[in-house]
Amino acid sequence: MTVSPTASKPAHVPLERVIDFDLYHPPGIEQGFHDAWLKLHAENIPDLVWTPHNGGHWIATRGTMIAEVFADYERFSCRVMLVPKSVGEQHQMLPVVLAPPAHRPYRLLLNTSLAPRTVNNLEGDIRALAGALIERVRLNGHCDFTRDYAELLPVQIFMRMVNLPQSDVGLIKGWTDHIVHPDGRMTYQKEKQHLYDYLEPHIDARFGGTGEDMLSRIINGKVNERALSKAEMLSLCMQMLLGGLDTVVNFLGFAMLFLAQNPDHRRALIAEPELIPNAVGELLRRFPVVTLAREVRQDMDYAGVQLCRGDMIAIPTPLVGTDERLNPEALQVDFRRSTSQHATFGNGPHICPGAHLARTEIRITIEEWLSRIPDFEIPSDALLRFRGGLVGVVDGLPLVWNVATTRAAS
Ligand code: HEM
Repeated sequence: MTVSPTASKPAHVPLERVIDFDLYHPPGIEQGFHDAWLKLHAENIPDLVWTPHNGGHWIATRGTMIAEVFADYERFSCRVMLVPKSVGEQHQMLPVVLAPPAHRPYRLLLNTSLAPRTVNNLEGDIRALAGALIERVRLNGHCDFTRDYAELLPVQIFMRMVNLPQSDVGLIKGWTDHIVHPDGRMTYQKEKQHLYDYLEPHIDARFGGTGEDMLSRIINGKVNERALSKAEMLSLCMQMLLGGLDTVVNFLGFAMLFLAQNPDHRRALIAEPELIPNAVGELLRRFPVVTLAREVRQDMDYAGVQLCRGDMIAIPTPLVGTDERLNPEALQVDFRRSTSQHATFGNGPHICPGAHLARTEIRITIEEWLSRIPDFEIPSDALLRFRGGLVGVVDGLPLVWNVATTRAAS
């Protein structure tokens, strides 16, 4: 189903730049989310194209341009950072819609809660939870990795960090899912209101307290030496939930899909577990999941076309690290790759503050999984389903293995 009606081509868009590409339903997504995006790296596709879908917007197709648009807030505004623009204009979450220097003090509040030292202190909890979840399925010889693991680990860790009840995960996920994957069943404003109504009593209860959890730190933090307004608290907390709940879940699905289909890569990690941190970076480079957008600030000539103030440009992270112009053999997964360029976590002032947490959860997942279930695959009759959107999804990931090859944790 289409998120928003298609738009007619504006006069300043040259006909040869127009393509038929709906980023919520990329053509060919049935065969794979990343392969569908990679069609935009075909030789005949320009670096900047325009699609009539989702209100009509440009799409940057090459890594260098995508990274530039992410970072260049003077020419490309984050006031609206998702398409369709009519939905993006309602988003208005802090700190993503602010440019420097206004962005900086809000961003500092998030940085403290997600600092490497804070995350490293959680490593024992993450490992214990990962081990327990894997032990629940190990002797079954099969699982749905999405349902039995990926949807549980990052979300449970996150709920601990924000100190919200685990029993509310389903509720929150329902609302954030509709925001990240709008399907027309509910309006954006309604979903946002649900989240605000849910968060408000939690915010009131923590305001003025000494709690060390992520929400308390945001709520009781200061911006330019003043306390935050209630609206600012709600906005920052909601953005944190949106950023933290969906991304790792979906990335883990793609990482495990690759490992299930590539026994040699798996065996390399089992033989040399010290390769795992580098493997995490390589999987992040090759299988990014996020597609955001920016709004053009002023009329200008750019990449051989005229851009008009208010035009939207989609900036798909799946097209950065996979670009041969940036990384040699970009489609190959090489766990020994020594340097690489990507923008899986964005680029510039808004670069993801949750990246260290995400990397830690992915690394621990691979370490704990491979040490218990070294050999696993996708059942031959499985039909994998993928979804596009702001965050790409593999919808359910069935895995099977021979129980005799598994090991209990040492
Ligand atoms: C694999 C996992 C993740 C990916 C791929 C990812 C990706 C991204 C990207 C591409 C951006 C840039 C947004 C922009 O420039 O418009 C971003 C920002 C953000 N992410 Fe993540 N993210 C991940 C995990 C997390 C986690 C675990 C959290 C929180 C616990 C988080 C919270 C945020 C927040 C709050 C922002 C906005 C920062 C700002 O505006 O300054 N993310 N993320």
